[in-house]
Amino acid sequence: MRINNTAPKGLEDVIIGSSSLTLIDGRAGRLSYRGYDISDLAENATFEETAYLLLYGNLPNVQELRQLKKNLSDEREIPTQLVELLKGFPNDASAMDILRTSISALSIYDPDLHDYSPDAMLRRAIRILSKMTTMIAGYERIRNGAEVIPPRADLDHASNFLYMMRGQVPEPVVARIYDKCLIIHADHELNASTFAARVTASTLSDVYSAVTSAIGALKGPLHGGANEGVMEMLEEIKVPENAEAYLKKVFSEKKRVMGFGHRVYKTIDPRATILKSLSKELATKNGGEWFEISYKLEEIMRAEKNLSPNVDFYAASVYHMLGIPTYLFTPIFAASRVTGWTAHILEQYSDNRLIRPRADYLGHPPRKYIPLTQRK
Ligand code: ACO
Repeated sequence: MRINNTAPKGLEDVIIGSSSLTLIDGRAGRLSYRGYDISDLAENATFEETAYLLLYGNLPNVQELRQLKKNLSDEREIPTQLVELLKGFPNDASAMDILRTSISALSIYDPDLHDYSPDAMLRRAIRILSKMTTMIAGYERIRNGAEVIPPRADLDHASNFLYMMRGQVPEPVVARIYDKCLIIHADHELNASTFAARVTASTLSDVYSAVTSAIGALKGPLHGGANEGVMEMLEEIKVPENAEAYLKKVFSEKKRVMGFGHRVYKTIDPRATILKSLSKELATKNGGEWFEISYKLEEIMRAEKNLSPNVDFYAASVYHMLGIPTYLFTPIFAASRVTGWTAHILEQYSDNRLIRPRADYLGHPPRKYIPLTQRK
């Protein structure tokens, strides 16, 4: 039987359900979380306020924010078994594979895994958000043969991550730039990884399984993995003067340029605009040509292909200038997006129906089984 309501390939522009979290206006190039424009949040809010907004529905008051910060810092430690697990991984393993495996393993140590009450769900969302950061920083230390640095309760989420990674409290301006990156990446409607999370949650599987599904989806180079591809490209180009020849070659090979194009944004990705200004700010502060190379690529891509940068494009130079190694770009994207994933998972649980679409069967017509000995 053929089903007639076939969706377009890649589910382009198909609305598969409702959500109160994030609105994307792809034509106007606007993005808002629960009604607040992303530029307003990046300019004025902290990541903790944004996380509260996504998870609870409104911006917190002073008392609510204090409580969230306390809950986040109370959850920063990771089980020693997980530190041992991180130590056992080979040094050349993909950081996203390690993150996916570690988050999956974390579920085993969750004290109330089978409590599905709304309060327990929120506790778990905050637990995963907090511990994911500690795991990534711990992994980075272990990978470099250094001691794991315990988290500090007096630091905010962004500063604590940079501190655990390097052993030094970052300058406030640097911490604030990273904080803005966390805000910008926190949610993005039904992108591939969030959809994967919601599909898993819709089977009434647990939050860790849903987040693990999402990490697997984010890893791909057409999604979150593109930011690492962008940095590799910038490093290959080396100086702005090489950008044109580099792109000519890529075009002639009919390859994709990482960090450009978007399924939903038809004009500009507003997150790219914010990241572009952060990249410029860091270039002014640090020197170097990463911003200039990126800017040159953007100009050529717009002129030649009518394609604009997406969130991953300027994120690459920003992360690099923040001193974050390229192999951690996608894990730190995950460390922010987990806020949106868990908010979507909670939304899915609150009004669940199993997500189970259909496929248009184009295979062989019905046929009879032929015994093995009679097959040609
Ligand atoms: N480089 C070169 N050409 C491109 C690019 C690109 N980055 N993106 C799209 N195009 C071209 C395609 O070749 C295609 O051209 P054609 O019609 O002549 O064949 C046209 O633009 C439409 O592309 P689609 O693949 O149909 O667009 P889709 O909506 O499926 O893909 C995607 C969106 C995956 C983001 C795509 O733009 C891409 O591959 N970009 C590079 C990877 C990337 O940056 N991913 C991160 C996205 S943001 C995020 O997930 C966090």
